[in-house]
Amino acid sequence: MNIAAQSLQRIVRRNVVIPFDKNKKFSFYYEDNLVVTSLFVVLSAMFPPGEMFFIESVRNVRDQIKDEKLLEDIRNFIAQEAFHSREHQSLNEHLIQSDYPEVVEIEAKTKAKLDEFRKLPKFEQLAATVVMEHYTATLARLLLTDPLIKQRTTQESRNLWEWHALEELEHKSVAFDVLDAIGGNTAKNRRMALTRVTKLLSPVLFHYWIKILKRSDIKFSIRELKDGVY
Ligand SMILES: [Fe+2]
Ligand SMILES: [Fe+2]
Repeated sequence: MNIAAQSLQRIVRRNVVIPFDKNKKFSFYYEDNLVVTSLFVVLSAMFPPGEMFFIESVRNVRDQIKDEKLLEDIRNFIAQEAFHSREHQSLNEHLIQSDYPEVVEIEAKTKAKLDEFRKLPKFEQLAATVVMEHYTATLARLLLTDPLIKQRTTQESRNLWEWHALEELEHKSVAFDVLDAIGGNTAKNRRMALTRVTKLLSPVLFHYWIKILKRSDIKFSIRELKDGVY
């Protein structure tokens, strides 16, 4: 997509503070499906370091952008990601103190992996963000459109994830448009970024998801496992 073809959709800053009851377990899924809950815990732990990286990678090249609409999109993209990061951080602190101390390790491991990306040239860092934003937007679309997920997810969970998902879809093209504008949108660069992101970050997600599910206090049925994986 070139600048002229950019989305005309407005990206809105919403300084949303998600209320959740800190005195009780955060519940993501009906019937307390721990397979799904654990996946959402890992994702929530990965978001704050991830979103800091997305912001940095766009900021790194902002001085090369001249288009006013794209500059405005960048400002709103940064604001949205900063608000997401803050709300996930707040949830993560609660998760650490309640049932999921692994969150500390997941955040640190994700940051360490992203520090590997930080050694790359700026346009390659941005290409990695484009790939991660694509994955995030795909998950966001699923969260917002799958009737089963809607039906089974608690209101408490939906307050956070649906707001986040909506804004991910709103700003999904920003990193891509910036990469395109600085001349980094080549097939080679996109392919390299896809390989790097898949190799570096997917193992973190699956390693910790499985690690949590192996805990002796985490019990689930085959049906819940099937439900969670599919
Ligand atoms: Fe986000
Ligand atoms: Fe995003």
